[in-house]
Amino acid sequence: MSHEFRIVFEPSGRSVFALPGTVVLEAAARAGFIIQTPCGGNGTCGKCLVNVRSGKCPPTDAEIRALGVERVAEGCRLACQARLTGPATIEIPDSSLFGAQQQILTADSGGPVAVVPRVRKHYIALGPPKMGEPLSDLERLRRRLPEGATRLAALRTLPGALRRSGFAVTAVEVDGELIAVEAGDTSSQCYGVAFDIGSTTLVGTLVNLITGADLALASRVNPQTSFGDDVVSRIQLCRTEPGGLARLQGAVLEAVNKMLDEVARKADVSRQNIYEVVFAGNTTMQQILCGVDPSALGEIPFIPAFRNAVEMRASDLGLHTYPEACVHVFAQIGGFVGGDTVAGIIATRLDEAVEPALLVDIGTNGEIVLAAKGRMLATSVAAGPAFEGARIVNGMRAAPGAIEKVIVNGDLKMNVIGNVKPAGLCGTGLIDAAAELLRLGVLDTTGRILAPEEAPASLPDPIKRRLIRGHGGEFSVLLAGPSESATGQPLLLYQRDIRELQLACGAIRAGINILLGMLNLKPGDLGSVLLAGAFGNFIRRSNARRIGMLPAIPCSRIRFVGNAASFGAKRALLSRVEKDYADRVFLSVEHVDLSISPDFQMEFAAAMMLPEADEAGDCGAE
Ligand code: FES
Repeated sequence: MSHEFRIVFEPSGRSVFALPGTVVLEAAARAGFIIQTPCGGNGTCGKCLVNVRSGKCPPTDAEIRALGVERVAEGCRLACQARLTGPATIEIPDSSLFGAQQQILTADSGGPVAVVPRVRKHYIALGPPKMGEPLSDLERLRRRLPEGATRLAALRTLPGALRRSGFAVTAVEVDGELIAVEAGDTSSQCYGVAFDIGSTTLVGTLVNLITGADLALASRVNPQTSFGDDVVSRIQLCRTEPGGLARLQGAVLEAVNKMLDEVARKADVSRQNIYEVVFAGNTTMQQILCGVDPSALGEIPFIPAFRNAVEMRASDLGLHTYPEACVHVFAQIGGFVGGDTVAGIIATRLDEAVEPALLVDIGTNGEIVLAAKGRMLATSVAAGPAFEGARIVNGMRAAPGAIEKVIVNGDLKMNVIGNVKPAGLCGTGLIDAAAELLRLGVLDTTGRILAPEEAPASLPDPIKRRLIRGHGGEFSVLLAGPSESATGQPLLLYQRDIRELQLACGAIRAGINILLGMLNLKPGDLGSVLLAGAFGNFIRRSNARRIGMLPAIPCSRIRFVGNAASFGAKRALLSRVEKDYADRVFLSVEHVDLSISPDFQMEFAAAMMLPEADEAGDCGAE
């Protein structure tokens, strides 16, 4: 594993280790930078521009064609084309980042957002009241504000704030409703937080509601995972255990509050100046967050408690913000297709796609939306936590020590996050390993790991020696020997790990196939497949296709759209137009419940089979 080298990304200084031949786009994603790829990584749009500040990164013909000899000589490269050959320092301009600034979310996603939040602050110098003018403090203030109600909390602070500050105050209103009055001019301090509440991961972004800029990000594992790693087990807890819902809600709210503390501290802003919080999550997560019993989601016909967006005050949830801050929970489509999918739709403008388009959010719960022929169909599949490294014997999350990439070069070569000894295998490493073993003929299409004597004669000896017979006669693949691994134990990929991967991929693929079938479409009809979710950004498209998780279409039609749920939540926070769009668009999505689909079991069984090489076809440039 010593052949990896360090790649530093400027201006942040964040670095990762990469194998020779790694595409810059992929290394950047590993460092947490999602670069926009409007042409699908074809090397034709020039939008994924980066600058090589030091180190070698030989230009390709496509880069010379797209950028010209002079710019290439200055170090300009296309992140989708440039391959790393040694240590390098690479600058990523803001304009190349996907969603780094709300103004630019790339041409084929939601487009620019004008910052018109619901929350507005008005600095108003009223001056002292005059004799003979019998108006109250509130009447004088309201004459300078849009029409609307006044909350008691604002009224309580009004007289004192006016008289402490020479009758000059800042009024905070949301859709005309006065929610706060602050002494003096605080109009520049106006913030909101957008949350993506995933079954496994929570992500919060603190946003400046005046400039639209991202100020700080926090993410952490959803503490509810300790009660069960999928939504079904959490619904079950609510159904069977008195106080189960309260425990789950308490766990997520505690984490949300810690994240609010964290982002405010990082950006050095007062939590009292956070006036709006937006949440997007799957149906179960949203209901638990609100303290709404999700038990009915555990029984046919899986009815959610609400579909329209829910509004409340921060004090209703005990959030660490201004207590009267508005809390907006996204509208949800159905039992297992929730607000995060609605957020994904508005972030990608899936409903406006000209050609058939598929949005796939890969997580413990995989959400799939197909937009075609003037309709939108959405479904959800239980992919399970294999992609998070769970239920995999040597699985782990994508953290230092995780094998995140596997390639073949005479032997299996592995990229380990943090360039340390490997401790386990994360989701992308698992997909890579399975795809490479399939290409080598070490896995057959049923997913069985073959014995060395059954493997093709062309199989290189170093790989043959990695095939180890276990107690039950099944074979495993040795990824690292005891002296190479962080644990001092052999690191093996077991037969049952491949089965878990087949279950996860089969569920996603079956969901895709059923939606396509409902609209009489074939995979080849898809103009684009948009991969969302933190995990989706790190997948090697050709490998996901090779194992049948994604349809066999050219890689250029498979695009990464980042954490679309987070982007959508942020758009709703920044713009009342986007919020209204989200509040409406869910009505045009048809919810497809696979649990009652007569075809699902058959599709699922078929999708569990790994494709033959000619079925998977050639993906084109990764
Ligand atoms: S040139 Fe279009 S994504 Fe790289």
